[in-house]
Order: sequence, then structure tokens, then C-alpha cells
Amino acid sequence: MYDLIIKNGKVVSPTSIVETDIAVKDGKVSALGDIEDLGDAKRIVDAEGKYVMPGVIDAHMHVEAPFQGCFGANDFYTQSISAAFGGVTMLMDFTNTFKGKSVFEAVKKRHEEMSKSAIDYSIHGKFVEAPENILNEVEKIVDYGCPSFKLFMTYKKEGVMADDETLIKIFSRAKELNALPMVHAESNAIAELNIEKYKKIGDLSWPRFADSKPILCEAEAVSRAVYFSKYVGNALLIVHTTNGEALDIVRKAQNEGYPIYVETCPHYLTLFKDLYEDPEIGYLAICSPPLRTPQEAENLWKGMQDGTISVTGSDDCTYSKEEKTMFLEKDENGNFIPDFTKVVNGCSGTEIRLPILLSEGVSKGRISINKVCEITSTNVAKIFGCYPRKGIIAPGSDADIVIVDMNKEVTLSPEVLHNNIDYCLHEGMKVKGYPVMTISNGKIIIESGEFKGKRGDGKFIKRQIEPDILRRFSL
Ligand code: URP
Ligand code: ZN
Ligand code: ZN
Ligand code: ZN
Repeated sequence: MYDLIIKNGKVVSPTSIVETDIAVKDGKVSALGDIEDLGDAKRIVDAEGKYVMPGVIDAHMHVEAPFQGCFGANDFYTQSISAAFGGVTMLMDFTNTFKGKSVFEAVKKRHEEMSKSAIDYSIHGKFVEAPENILNEVEKIVDYGCPSFKLFMTYKKEGVMADDETLIKIFSRAKELNALPMVHAESNAIAELNIEKYKKIGDLSWPRFADSKPILCEAEAVSRAVYFSKYVGNALLIVHTTNGEALDIVRKAQNEGYPIYVETCPHYLTLFKDLYEDPEIGYLAICSPPLRTPQEAENLWKGMQDGTISVTGSDDCTYSKEEKTMFLEKDENGNFIPDFTKVVNGCSGTEIRLPILLSEGVSKGRISINKVCEITSTNVAKIFGCYPRKGIIAPGSDADIVIVDMNKEVTLSPEVLHNNIDYCLHEGMKVKGYPVMTISNGKIIIESGEFKGKRGDGKFIKRQIEPDILRRFSL
């Protein structure tokens, strides 16, 4: 007797769509086949006409993370609910690392903070410096099951920037220990000098935010990180890539065989820098790197099509309007005086990543549903080292599953999302293709628009990355 059978669905992997039924027992996928042969189950879900996909993994978000004086609108429990509504069955976040403090202790603290999640989770170690004692901790972090690291190439003022030597030292330890560093690639010098320039002319309005960190600012850092990786010989993931020029730099390195991978995020596919021209709401779209143009979004779609981009993440960083504006001053009429340097960076995204890729990608003919599976789940599991436990629907895998209805149309708004804020940058956007059921470790946690999961049901997933992926570009 199985716990659950999902019948009549079209089961998706990166390379196939198979009409098969899925039997689940004790939180795992037990068997695939015809229900007549599989036998009976306590619960049978009919997925007729729908796609059945491995649960989405969101390996990039910032929750319960003090940043630029703010903390964010969610904790890991509410974040996991919002994520589950978007078909996500596993979260990863970064340690809150502070200069002079142990990163390994930060990993353990994060483990505790994340344990309220209703879905499975894991942690990336974030490094802001690399003195001997911190370098000596790296192995313990990898052994703890966290073989992926984050380094910011900017945010010097915030105290989290890793300088060039730190990058090279952490890259080297990562190589020795089969770990994957990832970088937020923006030139701190270019960004800071531009801010000085705009301060001098007295214009810190929202559009100047995008002007302060143009494509060149991102491309310079991408290039530097790529060359550091070539120098060290380590694998690298460039997160939240926004443009074709950055992709070209990586594409060349990939063609040479270097294991350098790229992530992009839903907002760079669907939101553009014209949002900053709106004096009323422009500040809400302040995120780093800044929003670009529709042409750059097409370059990103092309990068997904040709395999330059291996994964997507949300970079979810959900702030309320109150937090976004808390450091702004007001004029005599009570209106905020624009100053982009005083607005916390980040926007929401974990719940809408899958819908956007289904709608803008699959429904509009840009990418296949197999590609969506690959860049939301399978490749994420592979690159971060939890495949095939996660990232595929196969016997023995965790029963983390999302059922998708490609005919379901939703108009995005704060009312349909569950992310604890009262605005939505995608407000009014019609999407076609939406997750309708989410299953975490064999338990239905989203059904008929309702959350049925439980606080703390998520488990910490120990990860280990396949060395092949780290030696040569091979996803
Ligand atoms: O604007 C963003 N992305 N905020 C979160 C921190 C980061 O840069 O990833
Ligand atoms: Zn059948
Ligand atoms: Zn970042
Ligand atoms: Zn981020």
C-alpha cells in the first residue's frame, strides 16, 4: 500500500516527458509505472492534462538577513509557505557572516534559524575575509554538508565585500575541498565612484541607481572573477546575471572548458529599468544588479536556450514598503526625497519564479518545459550537490514534486501571492502556466490554493558536489 499515487500526469525531466504514474511511500518516490501494476494507495491524485515536475529548488534568497539596516518581511517559515505556493520544495540561504566572526558558527546558527521551514533547506557559507583561522574553518563547513560559498564583490560600505585576495584564497580552498564558490559580481569601485559623481551633481533619483551600476560595472567584475577562477582552476557560479555582455565573457570560458556556471533571476526577465523612471514606486525596484532592458532579457533567454545559463534562482529579498523607505527623508509636502543610496536593495521572487518561466518561457515558446525542469530543479540539485536525491522524479528520490497546469491563468497581484508584502512589482501581469499542487517529502503541502504543510517539517539536507561538475563545464 503506497501513501500516494499521482496518476495520468506527464512526468518531466530535462530530457523527457513520460506519461506514467508515480507511487510514493515514506517520503520517497517508490516506483514509476502504470497504476494498474503499481497497486493501491491511501491517496490518489489525478494529474490528467497536467505536467508533473521535480520540485523547484531555490538556492538563492536572503531571509532573516540583516542588510543595509533592514531585516526583510519574512522568516523562514513564512518564506517556505510563499515558496511552496510557487512550487518550491527546497530553500537555500546564506550565513549571516560578520568580519572577525566564525563562519562555521554562522552555519550552525543558520541551521537553527532555517529549521522552522516547512520544506527542506540547506546553507551556503558566506565569506567576507580569509585570514588563516577562517580558511581553516572551510573544511568543517564542507563536512557539515555545505560545499557552496558566497562572496560579494561589492557592498564594501556594508562590510561584506570580499576583496580580490579573499576571492582567490576562498576559490583555492574551494578547489581543494570540492566546493563551489559563487560571486555577486559588481565592481565596487565603479559603483562608489558613480555615487560620488551623482552626489556632486545633487541627483540621487531612482534612475541614477541603474546608471550608477551599468552593465560595464557588472561585466568588469564577472571578467575579474572568471580570470581568478582560471588562475586558481576552481569551479565558479556567477549569480544573478543580467546581461548579454556578462554572458559572452562566461560563454567564452565555458567553450574553453572552464567549469564556470551562470544563474539568472526572474526579475531580469520581466522587469526593466524604466520602472526607475516612476517617481512614486521606482524605489521598490531597487535591487542589485539593477534592472536592465527588454533586449538584455532576450539575451538571457538565449543564454538559457544555448546552455550558457545553467540555473535560475530568485534572489528573493522581500522588503515591505516601510523597510524600503525607512531611511528616506521627506519634503515639506510629506513626499519622500529620492536618494537611492538610502533604499535597501532587493526584490521578491521565490513564489513567481516558476510561473514566470512557465508563462514567459514555455507558453511564449522561448524554452521547453524540459528546460524549465533543468534550470529550476535538476541542474540546481546537480550544481549544489543534492542530486539525485533532489532534482528528479525517479525511484529512490525524495518525493518533492510540483504539478503544473499550463492552462491556468493568473493575474499577479499582492492578493494572489503569499510573501507578506502589500505590493507586487509584477502587479497586473498575466501569466499562463501555474503550479497547482506542491508535494514535499511525499506530503501534499499546497492543494486547491491552500497551504497544508507544517512549520518545522523541512529537513536540513547535507550536500556533496560531484567532482566532475567542478573540474570541467559539464551540465
Ligand atoms: O538586491 C539584492 N540582490 N539584494 C540582496 C543582496 C544581494 O545582492 O544578493
Ligand atoms: Zn494508467
Ligand atoms: Zn547579490
Ligand atoms: Zn542575492
